[in-house]
Amino acid sequence: MMPQSHIIDLDSYTTDEWNMITELAQRIMKNPSYYHSRCSGKVMATLFYEPSTRTQMSFQTAMLRLGGTIIGFDNPSVSSVSKGENLKDTTKIVSSYADILVIRNPMEGSARAASLTADCPVINAGDGGHLHPTQTLTDMLTLKCEKGRLCGLKIGLCGDLRNGRTVHSLLKALSRYENNEFVLISTPQLALPSYIKDILNARGCSYKEVNSLEEVIGELDVLYMTRIQKERFSCEAEYEKQKSIFLLDAEKMKKARPDMIVMHPLPRVDEITMEVDDDPRAMYFKQAKYGVFVRMALIICVLENRLGTGKGLCGKLHSDVCCKNPKCITRTEKYLPHTFITRGDILECEYCDERILLD
Ligand code: NCD
Repeated sequence: MMPQSHIIDLDSYTTDEWNMITELAQRIMKNPSYYHSRCSGKVMATLFYEPSTRTQMSFQTAMLRLGGTIIGFDNPSVSSVSKGENLKDTTKIVSSYADILVIRNPMEGSARAASLTADCPVINAGDGGHLHPTQTLTDMLTLKCEKGRLCGLKIGLCGDLRNGRTVHSLLKALSRYENNEFVLISTPQLALPSYIKDILNARGCSYKEVNSLEEVIGELDVLYMTRIQKERFSCEAEYEKQKSIFLLDAEKMKKARPDMIVMHPLPRVDEITMEVDDDPRAMYFKQAKYGVFVRMALIICVLENRLGTGKGLCGKLHSDVCCKNPKCITRTEKYLPHTFITRGDILECEYCDERILLD
């Protein structure tokens, strides 16, 4: 079998490869009809174990606009998953029906796990609160088109930085460009996980953590708003305490620079008032449109083998060690090899990035 380009974590690819995708997306935007039969005869499967509007439909639209066809489910309870089928078997079978498999699952590291058994390339469309690489490609295309660059930007990220997978993927990507500065706006309870902060530190990125949007909005080139991820909280009361703390409204927009743009992966709940939608700096609806073009480009690059193979599992097997993250895919899919990367006296789970301190 040809080596496959699974898109699990963008960090496995070079910035040249990211550019190839976003540049192709820009060409598709200029002349979409040129690409209308590029993937004819190809089948894309979308396996969505978690709710989605944009990601699933934009993938499906992208494939249909390239002349391909789609299969899949968006409600696992109507598939054999409800009969107890594991991820391995579902992936094995569906990947033999399709040429490309797009998966969203609430367990962290699930897309990596699926890629171990799939017979076709796997794209991570969100694995729990961990990563969301194709939203990041969407965000990078938005920044290129609307700000003209991916470097030298001051970016505020506001809301649920702990559970927001789009934030994690975006920070990992933008920290690879020069002179970006990050302002992390959240409550202490919803602060960015320390493993992402370590990546920022290791790459020499400047960042600060604050708890007031109002105080920093005037400094920003980009404001990336996020919703509080209700489904990732262990209890409703904790969510109630955290929701509605950050609100972007017309009043705060008055303090922002005239060329600041507001991004949001959507869905919006109550963190941006609707009056902001009419502000020309509000970019979130346009951002969602960019997502279709970038996914068209990604599908072409993956199906035409234009990318490298990325990174499979390359850590060491520690059969006796269990990942401590209760949301890690290795907790529910027991057959998976427990592989970890060793970093000094820390073992890092290769599926979900959770760290275990060795004693
Ligand atoms: C995001 C997601 O699913 O992580 N949405 C998306 O893909 N556009 C953000 C969210 O759900 O809050």
